[in-house]
Amino acid sequence: MSRFLSDARKSLAPYTPGEQPKVMNLIKLNTNESPFPPSPKVIEAVSADAVSKLRLYSDIQTTGLVQAIAERNGLAPAQVITSNGSDEILAFAFQAFGAEGVAFPDITYGFYSVWAELFSCPARIVPLNDDFTVPLESFMTNTHMVVLANPNAPTGLALPLSDIRKLLDANPDQLVVIDEAYADFADESAVSLIPEYENLLVVQTFSKSRQLAGARLGFAMGQECLIADLNRIKFSFNPYNVNSLTQLAGEAAMRDEAYFTSCRDKIIAARGWTEKELISLGFTVLPSKTNFIFAAPNFCGGQEYLSALRERNILVRHWNSERIRDYVRITVGTQEQMETLIQVTKELIK
Ligand SMILES: Cc1ncc(COP(=O)(O)O)c(C=O)c1O
Repeated sequence: MSRFLSDARKSLAPYTPGEQPKVMNLIKLNTNESPFPPSPKVIEAVSADAVSKLRLYSDIQTTGLVQAIAERNGLAPAQVITSNGSDEILAFAFQAFGAEGVAFPDITYGFYSVWAELFSCPARIVPLNDDFTVPLESFMTNTHMVVLANPNAPTGLALPLSDIRKLLDANPDQLVVIDEAYADFADESAVSLIPEYENLLVVQTFSKSRQLAGARLGFAMGQECLIADLNRIKFSFNPYNVNSLTQLAGEAAMRDEAYFTSCRDKIIAARGWTEKELISLGFTVLPSKTNFIFAAPNFCGGQEYLSALRERNILVRHWNSERIRDYVRITVGTQEQMETLIQVTKELIK
């Protein structure tokens, strides 16, 4: 810490991202990336010609990309805004709508509490139920913005759309942000509710289901006035937030429905296989609607399991916090990677 750091920032506890190792021969199941490469259409789109145009600033409206997202979701372009990862648009939402307060669960995406602190949004932290489900009734009488990851991370559990509807009906004067980073691996999305609810903002990402984590691309969808508010923040901070190559990559990925579906279906199939195997090995496994599995071994603690896997070149994620210490979060990789994980786990149990 330098002597120049503002007093107000001295107590800030930054978000801790999962490890991005430099060595190559690891099975990397720790940050919920896709195990598959981007669509071949993405590789075509990011051409030498596109690279040669990098001397120009990027399109601030991200026109082609917004058009592709809007068409895929049955919305108007004015109902979509793109960002440098969904982290950025979530941060914009905290800045735009959270000054009076933000409510979110105790076990959820770790960045929410960091943004609440950074942007001075008073946080109301609601404990999840003992089975890690969301206590919906505790979010029914909010005086401030609500943020829910649905499906939630790191639990992988999803609230049904009927519950999201109840939440929106109960909070007509509060904004409800549904962070759908993982919704492509679930059965439902709140996007269909956007025309009905002016208090709904849905945030999604290209990082998980569209194989573009390194391109840093996210987006939010909602009624026009909400998107205009987010643009007010974006244009007060960094209008060129999505670079030209990422715009082209994102548009191509969004338009390649066949590739998207085939990767997603392979992950869902590998998830189902792995869940069954883990259960048969005595793990407690939460039913996942995401591209990861939150599971607790019964033969050792979560941290011990992580360390044993790490010694065998498999990376998973663990949080040393009270309620979830027994669990690890395992990203669903290819079927082959999951078979290796199960094989190694069987050897550990022996
Ligand atoms: C629930 C949730 N929301 C948002 C994000 C941010 O994703 P990105 O910034 O890569 O779009 C993540 C990343 O892991 C996440 O788990």
